[in-house]
Amino acid sequence: SILILDFGSQYSHLITRRCRELGVYCEMLPCTQKMADLSWKPTGIILSGSPYSVYAPDAPHVDPAVFEAGVPVLGICYGLQEIAKTFGGNVEPHSHREYGHAQIQIVKTGVAHADALFEGIQHGPEGLQVWMSHGDQLTSLPPNFMTVAHTPTSPFTAIAHESRPIYGVQFHPEVTHSPRGKEVIGSFVKNICGVRDGWSMDTFIPKEIARIREICGDKGQVIGAVSGGVDSTVAAKLMHEAIGDRFHAIMVDNGVLRLDEAKKVKKMLTEDLGVNLTVVDASDLFLGRLAGVEDPEQKRKIIGNTFIEVFEEKAAEIEKECAADSSKGPIEWLLQGTLYPDVIESISFKGPSAVIKSHHNVGGLLEDMKLKLIEPLRELFKDEVRALGRLLDIPAHLVGRHPFPGPGLAIRILGEVTREQVAILQHADEIYIAEIRAAGLYDQISQAFAALLPVRAVGVMGDARTYDQVIALRAVSTEDFMTADWFEFPASVLKKISSRITNEVRGINRVVYDITSKPPGTVEWL
Ligand code: XMP
Repeated sequence: SILILDFGSQYSHLITRRCRELGVYCEMLPCTQKMADLSWKPTGIILSGSPYSVYAPDAPHVDPAVFEAGVPVLGICYGLQEIAKTFGGNVEPHSHREYGHAQIQIVKTGVAHADALFEGIQHGPEGLQVWMSHGDQLTSLPPNFMTVAHTPTSPFTAIAHESRPIYGVQFHPEVTHSPRGKEVIGSFVKNICGVRDGWSMDTFIPKEIARIREICGDKGQVIGAVSGGVDSTVAAKLMHEAIGDRFHAIMVDNGVLRLDEAKKVKKMLTEDLGVNLTVVDASDLFLGRLAGVEDPEQKRKIIGNTFIEVFEEKAAEIEKECAADSSKGPIEWLLQGTLYPDVIESISFKGPSAVIKSHHNVGGLLEDMKLKLIEPLRELFKDEVRALGRLLDIPAHLVGRHPFPGPGLAIRILGEVTREQVAILQHADEIYIAEIRAAGLYDQISQAFAALLPVRAVGVMGDARTYDQVIALRAVSTEDFMTADWFEFPASVLKKISSRITNEVRGINRVVYDITSKPPGTVEWL
């Protein structure tokens, strides 16, 4: 597999992404990784871009052993400059930064391994279109290197060593703005590195199941929380496939879930997927603690802390049952549905002195219960988890489900959370989502939900005036939830939803649609 060494560029994780799309397994580690400490031998190494200048006093550098590992190396942007610096080339700040689209001219060197980088990649007479983003550039080639591509302003846009498989490109092949960039990465990883070990969900499942079995041994028990969301369901099903009933799923009903959610999840996980699940109805406890609380951060804190308390209590019960049965071992592991984007956050290179932060938010649980963390999805992106879910026969409507926040409806009820308010919102949300599905729009929307605004608006029903509350509908499309656009519903769909909610949900006499993008709004109302 391919080792990606990260110098902290905002695009680093896209290199991983492209390799995966090419069916190539890869792992990203901080650029400070010592080769001698690596437990596996990479088939090739890619050096990422960076916000640093290679000549800055605090600039990060790779272990020189990278170039002595006897495997091909590709440097991207800063990675190219790092190669140039290591081999004695010259890098200087450029008089005009190259940023945005550029056309590069590919040079035929006649040296087979050097020409391999761009071999077979189609482009017009004007050159290959790529995306640039750099301030420094190479002003002289290191000894024994050749130019394999250039632009009018940058004579060394791509370079290769004369006899060794060491390459550098100034542009960013990993971004989609370089339309053929993925093919350049493909040339490197497949043709030059010769990687054959395919990465696909089909091969992922047996490998991961074998890994889980090895980790958990013959007797160890695993516990994990499930929410009804995609990640925890897929993780739970995978654990069940690997170790059967030695995996104990716990679902906490916190009283602020969607309509009949606990019942539906129980049915799906136990009857359809065979997972060993206990549902704990703690809604009274949660709603009791939420009484009178209006501040959203306070609501989040109460729900988070109460969750840990309830979960630990249930886990302790399971522990006791296991202890009474000599064929069972102790609970040793806590399952988490951590995905690769969370892992990236914790492994990205953040500067020479930055402390690598932990990405999981269950530290308390791990310490109190002396558990070790097991994260079978930690190498996957969200769409890969969905693909995995489909292969594991998880129903399609669940695999494509929108995200739902941990604090649930509590952050969608403005003001105090009471059983009555929860019931109103559950009902309105159920109608909203059902109508979105009926209109065939669910999969075009990234997240949709209803919020309850506790204002009294005037209305008229029959001959009487009403003073009832307002439902706000939200639907957004987004790639990563950092920015989002509001979704443009056909008016007829909104009309139907509004009519159904005002007619069917008692206590609501008005429905509004939220037309705020993020920023300046957020996805949630609280
Ligand atoms: P915002 O409102 O920050 O939402 O634009 C972005 C995404 O995060 C979800 N979200 C949360 N998820 N606990 C969660 O587990 C929370 O407290 C929380 N707040 C927001 C939100 O639903 C959206 O998907």
